[in-house]
Amino acid sequence: MDKKYRNALIAGNWKMNKLASEVPDFVEELASVADLGKGVDSALCVPFPLIPAMKEATDGTWIKVGAQDVSSHDKGAYTGEVSAAMLADLGVDYCIIGHSERRAYHAESDQLVNEKLKALLGAGITPIMCCGESLEQRDAGVTLTFVESQIKGGLAGVSPEEMKKVVIAYEPIWAIGTGRTATAEQAQEVCGYIRKVLAGLYGEELAKGVQILYGGSMNGKNAAELLAQPDIDGGLIGGASLKMEFADIIGAANE
Ligand code: 13P
Repeated sequence: MDKKYRNALIAGNWKMNKLASEVPDFVEELASVADLGKGVDSALCVPFPLIPAMKEATDGTWIKVGAQDVSSHDKGAYTGEVSAAMLADLGVDYCIIGHSERRAYHAESDQLVNEKLKALLGAGITPIMCCGESLEQRDAGVTLTFVESQIKGGLAGVSPEEMKKVVIAYEPIWAIGTGRTATAEQAQEVCGYIRKVLAGLYGEELAKGVQILYGGSMNGKNAAELLAQPDIDGGLIGGASLKMEFADIIGAANE
C-alpha cells in the first residue's frame, strides 16, 4: 500500500542485557548475513556503557546504533543522566523514549517524553517514541483514545519539519515480554489509527512518510505477518534481538 513512502525499520531493544565484551561476536555474526542490510533500516539500541563497543563493532556495516533513554536536560547538575549531545558525540543514530518500562518504573509522563524528544531532535538523533495501552485499558475499550493522548502529548509543539525525523513505536504493554503477541489485526488497527492521528496533526502527506513500528513479543515466526500490515513499517524487538533470531526478523522485513 503506502509502504513505498517509507523504509522498514527493525530496531532491537537490548534493555538491560549483555556486556560490552559480548558485542563484537554478536555483531560479527549478524553483519555476516550481508544481504540483510539491503532494503531495511536496522539498529540495535543498547545500554549506555555498551555504545562505544557497539559503534566500533558496527563500523562499516549496515547496523545503526541506538540508546534506550536520554535526559531532557542539556547539561549541568543532573547526577546519573546522559544528555542528547553526549549520545550524538558517540555517533548514536536512534534513541528510544517513553518506553512503557520507563513510564512504569520511572514515572515518566508524556510531558517528560516530549521534552526528551525535543532534546534528541536538537542533537540530530532520531527519537523512537513508544506508546501503548495496558491490558486493563484494552479491556475497558479505551486503547485508541489512550494511545492518541500519548501521541499528542509526546508530540506537543513538534513542527512538521521535526516530525519527519520521528519514529513511533506501538507497544501494547500486555504483549511485552509475555510471549502474547498482538494479532496482526490488533496491531494494524492501532498503527493505522496512529497514522490517522498524525494525519490530523500534520496532514496526510507527512503522515504517509512516518515509520510506525510494532513491538511486543515479535519474533522470527510472527514477524512476516505483522510486517505485512499496511501501517506496520517495522518492529521494536526485545527478547528476540538478543539472539540471532533478530536476523530472521530483518530478513522478514526485507521480503
Ligand atoms: P519483547 O520483544 O521482549 O516483548 O519486548 C518488546 C519491547 O519492549 C521492545 O521495546
